[in-house]
Amino acid sequence: MDKVKVNMFVNGKPVSLEVKPYARLLDVLREDLGLTGTKEGCGVGECGACTVIVDGETVNTCLTLAASMDGKHITTIEGLMENEKLHPIQEAFIKHNALQCGFCTPGLIMSAKALLDSNPNPSTEQIKVAISGNLCRCTGYEQVVDAIKEVAEKSK
Ligand code: FES
Ligand code: FES
Repeated sequence: MDKVKVNMFVNGKPVSLEVKPYARLLDVLREDLGLTGTKEGCGVGECGACTVIVDGETVNTCLTLAASMDGKHITTIEGLMENEKLHPIQEAFIKHNALQCGFCTPGLIMSAKALLDSNPNPSTEQIKVAISGNLCRCTGYEQVVDAIKEVAEKSK
């Protein structure tokens, strides 16, 4: 089957690729671009481990065709660090022990980032809704909510 040309921006950089029409964005990020911070958990849109931000909105990359990304701006967990410094959300997750194995963490952090970018001062309820698509099999969610709350507080 013919490949499809896709021009997109990944973590601020222009990327041109030829992808199979049925290639998942998850596989293109991980295998073609080496961005393995985005994880595959369920592969069917239920766990949120594969979450990235596309044009400001969270997207499950296991359900997204790479071919549909032409002209889009994609941010992955690798795009959050600046000048070798962790993003404040990453720092807060560490401080609040909001992770154990860390498999769900990139997805949770991307959901938190999309929330705080659009609503810098969310309520606890809004935080819970924003991360409701991200499943964690290890730890409680309270620490995650606390970490996100702290970032919101500090940005006031
Ligand atoms: S791997 Fe995409 S939602 Fe689970
Ligand atoms: S920290 Fe292990 S799945 Fe969330």
